[in-house]
Amino acid sequence: MDQKEQNYNKLEKEKLLSAQKTAKEFIYDEFIVGVGTGSTVKYFIQELGILIEEDDLEIITIPSSNETHLELVKAGLPVGTLVEYPELEVYVDGADIITEDFVLIKGGGGALTKEKILASASKEFIVIADSSKYPKNLNSHPVPIEIISDAINTVIQPIFTLGGELRIRHGTGKIGPVISDNGNIIGDIFFKNEYDPFKMEKELNNIPGIIENGLFPKGSNRIVIGQEDKVRVIVRETDIKA
Ligand code: A5P
Repeated sequence: MDQKEQNYNKLEKEKLLSAQKTAKEFIYDEFIVGVGTGSTVKYFIQELGILIEEDDLEIITIPSSNETHLELVKAGLPVGTLVEYPELEVYVDGADIITEDFVLIKGGGGALTKEKILASASKEFIVIADSSKYPKNLNSHPVPIEIISDAINTVIQPIFTLGGELRIRHGTGKIGPVISDNGNIIGDIFFKNEYDPFKMEKELNNIPGIIENGLFPKGSNRIVIGQEDKVRVIVRETDIKA
């Protein structure tokens, strides 16, 4: 096994450990559970499937994306909507980076708008991650944004005025930009200089045409990080509601 493969396996194990601990210790019977998007969350869904099988736990899950919806159904988990259940006990999701001050950048999977809604609708927000995600500098990762398609050119200059450079995200399997589950365009903003994430989150959302951005300056209530064979839990006294 080469070094790259070894590192990949280490991180996958850390994701699994953090997902396992979260499912076993922080999910209770009759919980309405918001479920994020991404490769770490896939392990969490797997663990939730085991929990309802083995422990007879009755929960309802609310997905943050179409992909997660499909995964939840595949794992045999009951799925509800935010319209039916506007108050969640807990929201569990990954993150692209976590800074030393516990600011999160999310939206690497393009599901940032619903992720932010679920996080704010939930009594508790738990981030699960491998050790590569924390601690990271804010500038080490671009800020994902969701934009109304008509506005892709009008948002460029206002973003530039805030110190950022917008790049429209392109994926594979389709010509053109990545389209979100909500039918909008996903872009990434690159910042060269330091910025205040609290101010920037608001200023970006004030630009007409930007629906949401992937900055979560207040972070989460709990961060569960896999570190080699162990799991570190960081508990924070924070009110994540806007
Ligand atoms: C999805 O839109 C993101 O916010 C994810 O939470 C983030 O990209 C983490 O994904 P991984 O668990 O795959 O790293």
